[in-house]
Amino acid sequence: MCGIVGYVGNRDCTDVLINGLSKLEYRGYDSAGIAVFDNNQKIRVAKSKGRLQNLIDRMNQDGKPIGNAGIGHTRWATHGEPSDVNSHPHSGGRVTIVHNGIIENYKQIKDYLSDKGVSFASDTDTEVAAKLLDYNYNGSPIETISETIRDLEGSYALGVIFADHPNVVYAVRKESPLIVGVGKDESFIASDVPAVLDYTKNYYLLDHEEIAVLDKTGVKIFDSFGRKIEKELKTADWDVEAIGKGGYEHFMLKEIHEQPTAIRNTIMPRIKDGLPNLEECGITPETLKKFRQIFIVACGTAMHAGMVGKYVTEKLARVPVVVDIASEFRYRDPIVGEGDLVIIISQSGETADSKAAMHLAKKKGAKTLAIVNAMGSSIAREADMLIYTHAGPEIAVASTKAYMVQIAVMYLFAFEMALAVGAIDETECKRLVSTLMETPDMIEKLLEHKETTQYIASSLITADSLLYIGRGLDYALSMEGSLKLKEISYIHSESYAAGELKHGTISLIHDGMPVIAVATQSDLFEKTISNIQEVKSRGAKVILVCRDSYQPEPNTADMKFGLPDLDDLLMPMLAVVPLQLIAYYTSVHKGNDVDKPRNLAKSVTVE
Ligand code: M6R
Repeated sequence: MCGIVGYVGNRDCTDVLINGLSKLEYRGYDSAGIAVFDNNQKIRVAKSKGRLQNLIDRMNQDGKPIGNAGIGHTRWATHGEPSDVNSHPHSGGRVTIVHNGIIENYKQIKDYLSDKGVSFASDTDTEVAAKLLDYNYNGSPIETISETIRDLEGSYALGVIFADHPNVVYAVRKESPLIVGVGKDESFIASDVPAVLDYTKNYYLLDHEEIAVLDKTGVKIFDSFGRKIEKELKTADWDVEAIGKGGYEHFMLKEIHEQPTAIRNTIMPRIKDGLPNLEECGITPETLKKFRQIFIVACGTAMHAGMVGKYVTEKLARVPVVVDIASEFRYRDPIVGEGDLVIIISQSGETADSKAAMHLAKKKGAKTLAIVNAMGSSIAREADMLIYTHAGPEIAVASTKAYMVQIAVMYLFAFEMALAVGAIDETECKRLVSTLMETPDMIEKLLEHKETTQYIASSLITADSLLYIGRGLDYALSMEGSLKLKEISYIHSESYAAGELKHGTISLIHDGMPVIAVATQSDLFEKTISNIQEVKSRGAKVILVCRDSYQPEPNTADMKFGLPDLDDLLMPMLAVVPLQLIAYYTSVHKGNDVDKPRNLAKSVTVE
């Protein structure tokens, strides 16, 4: 969602802001803008609806602001349509701001300020915050920010400049992420580390309601009472290459290819003497034994990883696992409390609903375990136990490598849990771990042959709608395949438990309708094949993802993607790859913006 960048230093500020914003494009946005102190110390604003290029074109036409300090923003519309006037920065008069998040009580504040004669030009909650800052302004930026944030409800990260404090940038956050980059004679604010990596790897993680002040002398950080504080300077372990396309046409394709490495980086440090070892993450067999039930709470792809986790954990450890969509869990008054473990899965670690679900679980007395990719993110910092997935930065909006490592961690967790409760012995656990360790090499081989998925994808581009079907783990995987396809190809699709088709959905099948059937589970194979024949005999065009060794009868499938043999339980690690590639190539064939699909944001930091 919205991206914030700010800069103070000796470089051309506009260039730094635009470069930083381009690194945040992956978050999703529909307009962009900057505010820069020019060489006469006046604030110059440029903003435009649409892609960053529109803003650049506008500046080429109207003149580019030249200066050494300023703030920039990519906006993902929440309050008010995407338009020039609703784009950030917003000015309150003496104060100009950029904002990520939602000011929940903006309406009350707007009414209050309107009564005082303040007028508004946009429909945004951000302009309300800018006007409130201006209304409260007493000449001391820090005091004014401290006082104003007491009145703001909701989540926000703000970059703020004051007309009478030229070349100084202020920043504050609550809930929404913000980092402060520290370079030599220059400093930055940004919603995410990639925005500053071209200049520095050193950064501070701003905590709730802390206020950062960036000026020519460097960075100072204050608590919400205006007291100066010292913070630990962190160093990013990514480099600029990690956030480039590395020769691939799209980030998504690059990230699909990074999966074997991501799995190795994630699982190898957690395996000792052939057994899972999560002690470094605060998880021991003794802790695991105590849980009477497990909840897995997440959104989108991360929730689908949770579905795989449920099937595997229940099957191996015989402990009940409930998977919940975070936005449902947080409002359905779940029966959860002491003795329960709530696992929150999140790539970004900043997803608003997942974060709120974690807070609820903690409040109700459950223990929380976060499985998170983004280092230092809110969910990572606040959970009781933490397993980092080491996928590296995931830039494409459609999640691929993050899903892969999420399920890899779910396997390790399930193995350790099953061993802890005595449902499997050490020999079986070692066998499972060593099978998991084989998967990166197998995925590498799968990725050498992408032609079949390209061919399948070319047959899908004219489809209006399709179904993904499977049973058991194949059903869990179908959910992810279907989401991947719809988010980047814009073709409607649904995933269905194959056995459920007869209860209504089969009426949708018509001549030529594509059905992608996943059938990798030996014990359910014959049953899935029967379901496939049911749709095939009603005219469906069946694309079968199954073991290579299976030779389908002519009346079973029109196309087949064959997978190598592996333990049933671990087949999702392989079967997801063709599903990712089918979605990818369908999107490419349709000429869509693969990495930045319409209407979507990478990190969903608002409800
Ligand atoms: O950062 P998170 O893992 O918490 O994000 C959750 C979902 O928003 C995310 O997985 C989304 O569904 C992806 N765009 C799917 O590709």
